[in-house]
Amino acid sequence: MIRFSSLLVALIVCLLSLAVLQADIPRPDYPAGRGDKCVEPTEVMKRDHFQFLKHQRDDTVHRGIRTSKHSLVGCIECHVAYDSDGSYLPVNAEGQFCSSCHEYSAVKIDCFTCHAAVPDT
Ligand code: HEC
Ligand code: HEC
Ligand code: HEC
Repeated sequence: MIRFSSLLVALIVCLLSLAVLQADIPRPDYPAGRGDKCVEPTEVMKRDHFQFLKHQRDDTVHRGIRTSKHSLVGCIECHVAYDSDGSYLPVNAEGQFCSSCHEYSAVKIDCFTCHAAVPDT
């Protein structure tokens, strides 16, 4: 009897702390993309966006193949945001599209030492 009730208490404590944990996790917050959809379904992009970029980088740089569907320039054009003066906020600036999730998940990318983080025009 004693064992059963302490087990029950332990279970309740576990469930309560789970609920508290879930409520406390802050989600990354980033600007919405332009248009109504991405270059692939959103769930695919969320999971695999870097596969498209890496694959294309290999194809582009090493084999000279170029397609525009997964172009990095395209990502920037749709995912860049503006400040209150209407100037571009680089996608890798704090809290911006590419950086917000990466900071959250401790991912570091070096892409923008070579590639522009704002649109050309
Ligand atoms: C050392 C410089 C350098 C770094 C760092 C770099 N790239 Fe590139 N990237 C290039 C060059 C040069 C090209 C070829 C550009 C061309 O021919 O148009 C290229 C092309 C690309 C392309 C195809 C062209 C386009 O605009 O879509 C993609 C995609 C790409 N890189 C993604 C990445 C990603 C993602 C990263 C970071 C993980 C990265 N690159 C880091 C130099 C770099
Ligand atoms: C034509 C505009 C456009 C282009 C180009 C584009 N995106 Fe998107 N992207 C969007 C929109 C709009 C959404 C949100 C769609 C939704 O809410 O379902 C989105 C969603 C995403 C998401 C998921 C975000 C989330 O909240 O889960 C990622 C990651 C992403 N895009 C990365 C990229 C990358 C990387 C590229 C370049 C290869 C790219 N996008 C190119 C418009 C674009
Ligand atoms: C919805 C959140 C989210 C958004 C938005 C997002 N990323 Fe990511 N990105 C991730 C996560 C999580 C990983 C690590 C995935 C893994 O390692 O399994 C990652 C990994 C990457 C990698 C591979 C890094 C490596 O070291 O292998 C590249 C390149 C990348 N992202 C580019 C971008 C670019 C460019 C944008 C903006 C156009 C962007 N991401 C927007 C969540 C996001």
